[in-house]
Amino acid sequence: MLDQAHRLRELALAERHLTSDGTRVSRRISVTSGKGGVGKSNFSLNFAILAARLGRKVLLIDADTNLANLDILLGVSPKYNLSHVLAGLKGVRDILVDGPEGISILPAASGNLEQVLHEGIGSGAIIADLNSLEDDYDIVVMDTGAGASRTVLDFTLFSDIIVLLTTSEPTSITDAYAMVKLISAEKADVEIKLLVNLVRNKQEAVEVFDKLSTVINHFLKIEVHYLGYLPRDISVERAVHMQEPFINAFPKSPVSVQLKFIARKLIQVGEIQDDGAGLFGGFFRRGS
Ligand SMILES: Nc1ncnc2c1ncn2[C@@H]1O[C@H](COP(=O)(O)OP(=O)(O)OP(=O)(O)O)[C@@H](O)[C@H]1O
Ligand SMILES: [Mg+2]
Repeated sequence: MLDQAHRLRELALAERHLTSDGTRVSRRISVTSGKGGVGKSNFSLNFAILAARLGRKVLLIDADTNLANLDILLGVSPKYNLSHVLAGLKGVRDILVDGPEGISILPAASGNLEQVLHEGIGSGAIIADLNSLEDDYDIVVMDTGAGASRTVLDFTLFSDIIVLLTTSEPTSITDAYAMVKLISAEKADVEIKLLVNLVRNKQEAVEVFDKLSTVINHFLKIEVHYLGYLPRDISVERAVHMQEPFINAFPKSPVSVQLKFIARKLIQVGEIQDDGAGLFGGFFRRGS
């Protein structure tokens, strides 16, 4: 008899997105924010784990150079990262780190990525490797740094879905608006989903969404979708201290319960738009 995980995996395989020539296209989700420290890395990691549990093969790209890095959240220290690939010491697949529930993590600090994407260092072979890597996965989750560096913008522009995090603080909301403005200046048809973190309840989150989406709609003429909220929950901080994902350390906590709703919603939404260029192929074309 098939076990649950196996059945889910089979279902996911059946759902894989195919282009007209029969090749698979993975869904790219970038996680971004205007202001820093609003919960991107915690969301990315725990969402990636839930997506894996829902039967998806997940690549999590750690594109952040900040202290709250995915490796610290997991208590692992990757031996190699993209700089070793750039130096010709390792191949892209050699630097992958095994995460929980079979997710793969690509330690790709943004400084390195900038080198690949904009200075052309390492050139075609690395890009081809990165593109073929993407083909191995159903979902690519990109945990970006905060704010509007060129690399963060590139990640968001080459995503099928942008998960934009904000809190209810006016500074965070203002910075989220600024981020949407930058993104929309370069790409009109973006799919932005707002996730309001660190709130007391759903009402607080909906108020933030209403305020922000109204202003964005009025001034930028684009529609932002409501993805959901995560409550302020001491479990997150505790899990960070334990260097364990909160979804594993505290699976029944309020934040975990909410994230499970969000993960299902995010995975099952809409059809992806294939721009015909692989993630890194797209980057490479822009930067070269
Ligand atoms: N829902 C939550 N409840 C309680 N605390 C939270 C929650 N989400 C995040 N935090 C706290 O905020 C801190 C920052 O979170 P995280 O590192 O995920 O943010 P980030 O947006 O990735 O930051 P950076 O912009 O520096 O990359 C966490 O260490 C945790 O203590
Ligand atoms: Mg982070």
